[in-house]
Amino acid sequence: MDITHYHKDFIDYLESKKWVFEPKNLYEPIEYIIKLGGKRIRPILTLIGADIFSNEYHKAMPAALAIEVFHNFTLIHDDIMDDAPLRRGKQTVHEKWDINTGILSGDAMLILAYQYFENYEPNVFQKLAKLFSKTALEVCDGQQLDVDFETRNDVTIDEYINMIRLKTSVLVGAALKMGAIVAETSDENANLIYDFGLNLGLAFQLQDDFLDTFGNPETFGKQVGGDIIENKKTFLYLKALEVANEDDRQKLRYYYNQKLEDNSVKIPEVTRILEQNDIPLLVKNKIQFYTEKAFDTLASMEISNKNKEGLKKFGLWLMNRSV
Ligand code: IPE
Ligand code: IPE
Ligand code: MG
Ligand code: MG
Ligand code: MG
Repeated sequence: MDITHYHKDFIDYLESKKWVFEPKNLYEPIEYIIKLGGKRIRPILTLIGADIFSNEYHKAMPAALAIEVFHNFTLIHDDIMDDAPLRRGKQTVHEKWDINTGILSGDAMLILAYQYFENYEPNVFQKLAKLFSKTALEVCDGQQLDVDFETRNDVTIDEYINMIRLKTSVLVGAALKMGAIVAETSDENANLIYDFGLNLGLAFQLQDDFLDTFGNPETFGKQVGGDIIENKKTFLYLKALEVANEDDRQKLRYYYNQKLEDNSVKIPEVTRILEQNDIPLLVKNKIQFYTEKAFDTLASMEISNKNKEGLKKFGLWLMNRSV
C-alpha cells in the first residue's frame, strides 16, 4: 500500500484551512502544533479505513482532520503533564508560550475536532460522535493511569498494557473505524478493523516507549530519557524488574523513587541496566507479538487480499520507525 497520496492529500486539506482567528493568542499555538508535522498516522488510517471499504477516501477528510486535531490536543496537554520540552524537534507549546496557553488552546482543539463532524449527515454524524466521545474519555482514563503509575511501586505488566490500550490504542482503533463508518460498511467490518487498530496501537506504544530510551537524540524529536526522568512505569522498566537480579532491581527501584533536577547519572545508569538485561530484545518480541495479533484479525475481514497486504505493510512500516 502506497500511503504517500493519503499523506499528501491530507496535508493539502489541512493547509487549505484557515487556522488563526481572533484572539490570536488562542489560535496561533493551534496552528503551530498542527503544522509542526508528525507522522500523521491517525488521519492516514482514517483515510485507509474509508478507502478499503468504499474505494473512496476524500469524504473522510473532515473525520481525518478531527482525529489529528484531537491527537494534537492530547499532545499539548500530555507535554504539560510529562514536563516535556521538545515535540517533533521543536519547543513544546507550554515552553514556547506558557501552561495556561497550552490548556486553553488544547481545550479549543477538542471542540474544533467535534465541529468537523458537522460535515456529515445525521446517521454518520451520530456514529462518529458516539465513537469519538467514548474514545476521548478512554484516553483521559489512560492518561490518568499513566500519571498514577509514576508514584506506584506495584504496577503489573497487565496494568501497563491496559493503560496503553486506553491512552493510545483506542485512538488508533477509532481512527480506522471512523473511516469504516464514513464508508458505511457493515458493523462487523467496522469492529474488525477496530480490533486490528487496537493491537497495532499496543505495538505502537511499546515502540514509542522503546524509542523514548533508545531512540537517536539527533532524530527522535523528543527528549530521550523523558520517561526515565518522569518514573514512567513502562514495559521496559516492568520487564527489567521481572528479569533482573536483586542488585539491579534495587537500583531501578531506587532511581524510580525520586524525581531529580539533574538526571545526568540516572538516565545512563537506568539505560545501562535495561541494556544489560536484554530489555531492547524483550520489547521487540512484545512488539512483534501484538503486530502479529493485529495481522490475525485481518484474516476474517471481508476485504481484498491486496488491501490486507497493504494494511500489513503499513503495520510493519510503523514498527520499524525511528521517530
Ligand atoms: C505520540 O504519537 C503519542 C503517542 C501516543 C505515542 P505519534 O508518535 O503519532 O506522534 P506524531 O503525531 O507522529 O508526532
Ligand atoms: C502519550 O503517551 C499518549 C497521549 C498523548 C494520549 P506518551 O506520553 O508516551 O507520548 P509522547 O512520548 O509524549 O509522545
Ligand atoms: Mg509524553
Ligand atoms: Mg504521557
Ligand atoms: Mg512516549
